[in-house]
Amino acid sequence: MHDYHPSSDLLKDRVILVTGAGAGIGRAAARCFAAHGATLILLGRTIRKLEQVYDEIETAGGPQAAIYPMNLEGAAPKDYAELAQVLENEFGRLDGLLHNAAILEGLTPIVHYSLETWYRVLQVDLNAPFLLTQAVLGLLQRSPDASVVFSGDVVGDEGRAYWGAYAVAKGGLQTLMKLLANELKANTSVRVNSIDPGKIRTQLRLQAYPAADPAEWADPETIMSAYLYLMGPDSRGVTGNCIKAQD
Ligand SMILES: NC(=O)c1ccc[n+]([C@@H]2O[C@H](COP(=O)([O-])OP(=O)(O)OC[C@H]3O[C@@H](n4cnc5c(N)ncnc54)[C@H](OP(=O)(O)O)[C@@H]3O)[C@@H](O)[C@H]2O)c1
Repeated sequence: MHDYHPSSDLLKDRVILVTGAGAGIGRAAARCFAAHGATLILLGRTIRKLEQVYDEIETAGGPQAAIYPMNLEGAAPKDYAELAQVLENEFGRLDGLLHNAAILEGLTPIVHYSLETWYRVLQVDLNAPFLLTQAVLGLLQRSPDASVVFSGDVVGDEGRAYWGAYAVAKGGLQTLMKLLANELKANTSVRVNSIDPGKIRTQLRLQAYPAADPAEWADPETIMSAYLYLMGPDSRGVTGNCIKAQD
């Protein structure tokens, strides 16, 4: 993926929603999509962080973005329906959806895993992507070339010890990605894939490995080729795949 260098107008005229756009990989993806011509809807829970990304996009000369504060932990189906309605009214379209937001809440053996944490992590990491996808699917289906991208993690495939509900959610997301791709490929142009970012220097990774040296991990900006490829027209027809962002 590192040798993929699309033109700066790859995503021109596309409207793309990124969840967890205020920090880490989501922030890098939002800035990168805007730099390639897309209009961004920046969804996240901390308004201050979203405003900062909004300003960064504006300063870089990207299309004017929009901020949509939303806490995925407490959001109900009516909140997702309202979001879809706002997108319809304000933009009239949605061409891309990056499910990036996630929480880990530390590493704990199942025997000590709290029920409250279990529900909370599954709500943010698995149920929210389902609810959001369902709410905006109609809009995506009206786009001539829509792309849905989930965020995978190898710990979900492996069932890595101590990663608890986060790993279970990531395993579930992979299944959701594949079944949605299968459902949609018959009669729509919506493609559905996922990206495993690899080891990336973010808060989430620091939480998992507090004693590690963050300098050993890649910067989010260095893995954007995979995100651009799946969001843009070069991946037309590619669906149901998980792509590794780091070679
Ligand atoms: N970093 C890695 O090495 C790695 C490896 C494999 C997969 N991933 C995946 O990559 C994605 C991005 O992770 P990251 O490493 O960039 O993590 P991060 O830096 O912790 O960023 C997570 C983002 O999600 C947002 N978020 C968390 N809970 C939310 C909620 N309830 N409602 C709305 N937004 C919420 C956060 O908002 P606030 O900033 O406001 O809290 C933040 O913007 C995740 O899906 C993760 O599983 C990362």
